[in-house]
Amino acid sequence: MLEKFERYPLTFGPTPIEKLSRLSAHLGGGVEIYAKREDCNSGLAFGGNKIRKLEYIVPDAIATNAYTLVTIGGVQSNHTRQVAAVAAKLGMKCRLVQEGWVPFEDAVYDRVGNILMSRVMGAEIELVNEGFDIGIRESWKRALEDVRAKGGKPYAIPAGASVHKLGGLGYVGFAEEVRAQEREMALKFDYIIVCSVTGSTHAGMIVGFAKDGRAGNVIGIDASATPQQTRAQVLDIAQNTAALVELGRDIGAEDVVLNEDYAYPCYGVPSEETNEAIRLSARYEGMMTDPVYEGKSMQGMIDLVRKGFFPAGAKILYAHLGGVPAINAYSYIYRNG
Ligand SMILES: Cc1ncc(COP(=O)(O)O)c(C=O)c1O
Repeated sequence: MLEKFERYPLTFGPTPIEKLSRLSAHLGGGVEIYAKREDCNSGLAFGGNKIRKLEYIVPDAIATNAYTLVTIGGVQSNHTRQVAAVAAKLGMKCRLVQEGWVPFEDAVYDRVGNILMSRVMGAEIELVNEGFDIGIRESWKRALEDVRAKGGKPYAIPAGASVHKLGGLGYVGFAEEVRAQEREMALKFDYIIVCSVTGSTHAGMIVGFAKDGRAGNVIGIDASATPQQTRAQVLDIAQNTAALVELGRDIGAEDVVLNEDYAYPCYGVPSEETNEAIRLSARYEGMMTDPVYEGKSMQGMIDLVRKGFFPAGAKILYAHLGGVPAINAYSYIYRNG
């Protein structure tokens, strides 16, 4: 589906799929849980889902002769850290707007984890006192203007690399990769679990899995706590991406499955149940997840298994999208494990 698009390699190659046998058994053994380790996809500052998206965006940035990547996220954004790493790798500059999206005050919140790495990688960081919003932000437009005013040539990457014309392609590629791995493994996944916030990871998967009739088997777990906005953005990106890759069928609202039950209390703040899910996957599988994104999708998957949402024998693929560096900013919560 992606042959006609240029890809700039930033990842190690196909990400491994690992069976989570102990977690599956602990949850009753009625389903088989696997994880696709997007968190181990690249050597670029711990990698993650944005690196896969950026592989299809970087050729456009290079073609425009830009030399400053300009993007936006929260203070502990994984996305901005991955853009900073890609800029360093390409020899470009990086300008980051980091807004106060999360009402959480660990003493070291703005000094460790993602933002620490972005600073070390040389990104220019502006902290802006604005709350959570996945839409296009004035602060980001101002940063683009500022780079231009100073004689620079910015390349605009929106939050999560999502509302970008090429933002959905990376996760179309994920679906193609899974299909090839299914052939090798001689199995087929019945469900794919994905954390969704700015939307292009989920949207790309919907388009990629629509090719073999599995769009509705992609279960998005909302971590934004503003699900109407995320749902609308997923649909919009999926429709644009479907047209771009010439999927050959329309994507409609019925193709977007977004579970809203696990994002509480708000974006970036874990509930007690999220923390229990983080501990469970850590203690049964040695697989770390974070309190903002993957801990919430892990919580959702575990709860859905316990509730009997998945039929007996179902094979579930948990997309681990990265994000673990942010856990350092929540050190007080985990001071006793
Ligand atoms: C670790 C992690 N998981 C999930 C997501 C959600 O992906 P998306 O923004 O494409 O919906 C993000 C980024 O926002 C992330 O960094």
